[in-house]
Amino acid sequence: MITTNPFSALSEIIPSIAMQSFVIVMGLLVVLGTLVDIIHKKNVKYFFENAKKAKKSAKKILTTSEKTSVIIKTIASDIATTSELGAGKRRAAHLLGMYGTILFWIGSVVMIFCYASPTSNTPSVWPIIWHLGAIMTVLGGSWFWFFLRVDVYSEAQPWYRIIQADLFVLALLASSLFGLIWSFLQSLNLNDRWDDKVFLILFIISNLVLFGGVYWSKFAHMFYKPGAALQKNLAEADGSRDNMPPPADAPEKFGLGIKREAPKHY
Ligand code: HEM
Repeated sequence: MITTNPFSALSEIIPSIAMQSFVIVMGLLVVLGTLVDIIHKKNVKYFFENAKKAKKSAKKILTTSEKTSVIIKTIASDIATTSELGAGKRRAAHLLGMYGTILFWIGSVVMIFCYASPTSNTPSVWPIIWHLGAIMTVLGGSWFWFFLRVDVYSEAQPWYRIIQADLFVLALLASSLFGLIWSFLQSLNLNDRWDDKVFLILFIISNLVLFGGVYWSKFAHMFYKPGAALQKNLAEADGSRDNMPPPADAPEKFGLGIKREAPKHY
């Protein structure tokens, strides 16, 4: 199963042009959902106005090479390793899910656009990337959802309580999990059995929810977070610090209470 391109076998019943159109529609839904979100929340407008205001209190004008080094640092640390999440489980779970999803999506696009015909000879690296990506997403997403969600981890809510904020992570988990089960059942060559078709339909529905739900879910954080990290790092480099006071030049004294429990009540 792991070295078989599931879209190649699928092209016997669904034409590859239909699969390719589905991927394009999903991409357009992301663009549309994000734009409507930006217009509704006015977050990008606020972001640029705030950045303009902060620039006025800049202590120095950054040279092109200083700006480039801030951009490289932001990509290498804040984005590629989600350093905002600090060291520990939260970051490890996020990296597992994030890189899993990236592999799963790249694998899907390559196999659907380049190798989705019954006669295609798919290099095994692509199905491996696709299945590995799905497994990583399921592991990272479940770890986060069952154990690390703030309302479960810090607010003692039961793990089965589902709210709108869970839409993104659950749709992401569902699409990878249903994709894996569908691929497995299809590889068994069940012929007239319905099992794999059921999971194919669930795979399609979960993708529609994931990509069609951008406006209502946390999907767009993958665009907003890098922008906010870049602005924060530029504001630190030019001394404007987003109009925040500099750290006090004094020893850190929080009292003995700080040692009683690791901070986890956000
Ligand atoms: C393919 C790209 C990405 C995927 C699939 C992804 C996935 C996720 C998921 C599933 C969550 C949990 C959402 C929830 O609270 O229910 C999350 C949270 C988060 N993500 Fe991402 N993410 C991606 C990119 C990024 C990037 C580029 C950044 C930062 C630059 C980032 C920073 C964060 C942060 C700070 C949280 C909050 C984590 C927490 O509450 O513990 N993510 N992400």
